[in-house]
Amino acid sequence: MKKLQLTTEYTLFDKIGELSPEDQELMKSAIQTRKTAYSPYSKFSVGTAILLDNGSVVIGSNQENAAYPSGLCAERVAIFSANAQYPKNKILKLAISASSSRKKVSEPVAPCGACRQSISEYEVKQNSPIEILFMGETGSVIKVSSLKDLLPLSFDRSFL
Ligand code: THU
Repeated sequence: MKKLQLTTEYTLFDKIGELSPEDQELMKSAIQTRKTAYSPYSKFSVGTAILLDNGSVVIGSNQENAAYPSGLCAERVAIFSANAQYPKNKILKLAISASSSRKKVSEPVAPCGACRQSISEYEVKQNSPIEILFMGETGSVIKVSSLKDLLPLSFDRSFL
Protein backbone atom coordinates (compact mmCIF):
# COMPACT_ATOMS: atom_id res chain seq x y z
CA MET A 1 0.00 0.00 0.00
CA LYS A 2 1.24 3.48 -0.69
CA LYS A 3 -0.20 6.90 -0.25
CA LEU A 4 0.22 9.27 -3.19
CA GLN A 5 -0.45 12.95 -3.52
CA LEU A 6 -1.79 14.99 -6.37
CA THR A 7 -1.05 18.67 -6.57
CA THR A 8 -2.94 21.24 -8.53
CA GLU A 9 -1.83 24.71 -9.49
CA TYR A 10 -3.78 27.87 -10.19
CA THR A 11 -3.08 31.56 -10.54
CA LEU A 12 -5.12 34.03 -8.54
CA PHE A 13 -5.55 37.51 -10.00
CA ASP A 14 -6.93 40.17 -7.66
CA LYS A 15 -8.96 41.74 -10.41
CA ILE A 16 -9.77 41.38 -14.09
CA GLY A 17 -7.40 44.26 -14.89
CA GLU A 18 -4.44 42.04 -13.94
CA LEU A 19 -5.17 39.59 -16.76
CA SER A 20 -3.37 39.72 -20.11
CA PRO A 21 -5.20 41.83 -22.71
CA GLU A 22 -6.38 38.65 -24.51
CA ASP A 23 -7.70 37.06 -21.31
CA GLN A 24 -9.33 40.32 -20.27
CA GLU A 25 -11.15 40.56 -23.56
CA LEU A 26 -12.40 36.98 -23.29
CA MET A 27 -13.56 37.50 -19.71
CA LYS A 28 -15.38 40.69 -20.73
CA SER A 29 -17.15 38.64 -23.35
CA ALA A 30 -18.16 36.08 -20.67
CA ILE A 31 -19.43 38.95 -18.48
CA GLN A 32 -21.50 40.33 -21.36
CA THR A 33 -22.85 36.86 -22.12
CA ARG A 34 -24.28 36.56 -18.58
CA LYS A 35 -27.01 38.91 -19.78
CA THR A 36 -28.31 36.19 -22.12
CA ALA A 37 -28.74 33.65 -19.33
CA TYR A 38 -32.23 32.24 -19.04
CA SER A 39 -32.36 31.58 -15.31
CA PRO A 40 -35.83 32.41 -13.97
CA TYR A 41 -35.60 29.65 -11.34
CA SER A 42 -32.16 30.02 -9.80
CA LYS A 43 -31.71 33.74 -10.58
CA PHE A 44 -28.08 32.74 -11.11
CA SER A 45 -26.59 33.91 -14.40
CA VAL A 46 -23.50 32.36 -15.90
CA GLY A 47 -21.70 33.49 -19.05
CA THR A 48 -18.98 31.60 -20.87
CA ALA A 49 -16.75 32.69 -23.73
CA ILE A 50 -14.47 30.30 -25.60
CA LEU A 51 -11.49 31.31 -27.72
CA LEU A 52 -10.61 29.00 -30.60
CA ASP A 53 -7.31 28.68 -32.47
CA ASN A 54 -8.86 30.43 -35.49
CA GLY A 55 -9.55 33.51 -33.37
CA SER A 56 -13.30 32.88 -33.17
CA VAL A 57 -15.08 33.43 -29.87
CA VAL A 58 -18.04 31.18 -29.08
CA ILE A 59 -20.35 32.13 -26.22
CA GLY A 60 -22.87 30.32 -24.05
CA SER A 61 -25.08 31.04 -21.07
CA ASN A 62 -27.06 28.84 -18.71
CA GLN A 63 -30.49 27.84 -19.98
CA GLU A 64 -32.98 26.65 -17.38
CA ASN A 65 -36.18 24.72 -17.73
CA ALA A 66 -39.33 24.25 -15.64
CA ALA A 67 -38.34 20.57 -15.64
CA TYR A 68 -35.12 21.45 -13.81
CA PRO A 69 -32.73 18.71 -15.07
CA SER A 70 -33.58 19.64 -18.67
CA GLY A 71 -31.64 22.90 -18.31
CA LEU A 72 -27.96 23.23 -19.13
CA CYS A 73 -24.97 25.08 -17.68
CA ALA A 74 -23.32 27.92 -19.59
CA GLU A 75 -20.04 26.06 -20.03
CA ARG A 76 -21.69 23.11 -21.78
CA VAL A 77 -23.92 25.34 -23.92
CA ALA A 78 -20.73 27.09 -25.06
CA ILE A 79 -18.45 24.10 -25.55
CA PHE A 80 -21.06 21.99 -27.38
CA SER A 81 -21.79 24.95 -29.61
CA ALA A 82 -18.06 25.48 -30.27
CA ASN A 83 -17.59 21.88 -31.37
CA ALA A 84 -20.80 21.93 -33.41
CA GLN A 85 -19.71 25.04 -35.29
CA TYR A 86 -15.96 24.42 -35.47
CA PRO A 87 -15.35 20.67 -35.08
CA LYS A 88 -11.84 20.90 -36.55
CA ASN A 89 -10.58 23.79 -34.45
CA LYS A 90 -8.84 23.63 -31.11
CA ILE A 91 -10.16 25.36 -28.02
CA LEU A 92 -7.49 27.54 -26.48
CA LYS A 93 -9.28 28.95 -23.46
CA LEU A 94 -12.62 29.26 -21.76
CA ALA A 95 -13.68 32.15 -19.50
CA ILE A 96 -16.58 32.00 -17.03
CA SER A 97 -18.35 34.70 -15.05
CA ALA A 98 -21.34 34.24 -12.72
CA SER A 99 -23.71 36.60 -10.91
CA SER A 100 -26.93 36.36 -8.95
CA SER A 101 -29.83 38.74 -8.55
CA ARG A 102 -30.17 37.36 -4.99
CA LYS A 103 -26.72 38.22 -3.67
CA LYS A 104 -23.40 39.69 -4.63
CA VAL A 105 -21.05 37.07 -6.09
CA SER A 106 -17.52 38.30 -5.52
CA GLU A 107 -15.68 34.95 -5.25
CA PRO A 108 -14.56 33.02 -8.35
CA VAL A 109 -17.27 30.53 -9.37
CA ALA A 110 -15.71 27.26 -10.50
CA PRO A 111 -17.37 25.10 -13.16
CA CYS A 112 -19.52 22.24 -11.84
CA GLY A 113 -18.39 18.62 -12.04
CA ALA A 114 -20.48 17.77 -15.10
CA CYS A 115 -19.04 20.76 -16.98
CA ARG A 116 -15.51 19.75 -16.00
CA GLN A 117 -16.16 16.29 -17.45
CA SER A 118 -17.56 17.81 -20.65
CA ILE A 119 -14.61 20.18 -21.07
CA SER A 120 -12.24 17.28 -20.37
CA GLU A 121 -13.69 15.38 -23.35
CA TYR A 122 -12.54 18.13 -25.73
CA GLU A 123 -9.13 18.46 -24.11
CA VAL A 124 -8.59 14.74 -24.74
CA LYS A 125 -10.07 15.01 -28.27
CA GLN A 126 -7.78 17.85 -29.30
CA ASN A 127 -4.78 16.56 -27.31
CA SER A 128 -3.85 20.01 -26.04
CA PRO A 129 -4.70 21.87 -22.85
CA ILE A 130 -7.64 24.21 -22.45
CA GLU A 131 -7.00 27.15 -20.15
CA ILE A 132 -9.88 27.95 -17.82
CA LEU A 133 -10.51 31.34 -16.22
CA PHE A 134 -13.34 31.91 -13.78
CA MET A 135 -14.73 34.67 -11.62
CA GLY A 136 -17.93 35.85 -9.97
CA GLU A 137 -19.60 39.12 -10.87
CA THR A 138 -16.70 41.15 -9.51
CA GLY A 139 -13.46 40.51 -7.66
CA SER A 140 -10.68 38.03 -8.18
CA VAL A 141 -10.13 35.68 -11.08
CA ILE A 142 -8.71 32.16 -10.97
CA LYS A 143 -6.85 30.75 -13.96
CA VAL A 144 -5.73 27.18 -14.54
CA SER A 145 -3.59 26.18 -17.50
CA SER A 146 -5.45 22.92 -18.13
CA LEU A 147 -8.78 21.37 -17.24
CA LYS A 148 -6.71 18.58 -15.67
CA ASP A 149 -5.98 20.94 -12.79
CA LEU A 150 -9.70 20.98 -11.98
CA LEU A 151 -10.37 17.30 -12.64
CA PRO A 152 -7.50 15.00 -11.76
CA LEU A 153 -7.92 11.23 -12.15
CA SER A 154 -10.60 11.78 -14.77
CA PHE A 155 -12.59 9.22 -16.75
CA ASP A 156 -11.83 9.33 -20.46
CA ARG A 157 -11.97 7.31 -23.68
CA SER A 158 -8.88 5.31 -22.75
CA PHE A 159 -11.02 3.21 -20.40
CA LEU A 160 -13.47 2.20 -23.11
N1 THU B 1 -24.56 26.78 -13.63
C1 THU B 1 -23.75 27.00 -14.70
O1 THU B 1 -24.17 27.56 -15.73
N2 THU B 1 -22.47 26.56 -14.62
C2 THU B 1 -21.94 25.89 -13.56
O2 THU B 1 -20.81 25.43 -13.63
C3 THU B 1 -22.72 25.77 -12.33
C4 THU B 1 -24.14 26.14 -12.41
C5 THU B 1 -25.97 27.20 -13.74
C6 THU B 1 -26.95 26.06 -13.79
C7 THU B 1 -28.19 26.69 -13.23
O3 THU B 1 -28.87 27.33 -14.30
C8 THU B 1 -27.69 27.76 -12.28
O4 THU B 1 -26.32 27.98 -12.62
C9 THU B 1 -27.77 27.36 -10.82
O5 THU B 1 -27.18 26.15 -10.57
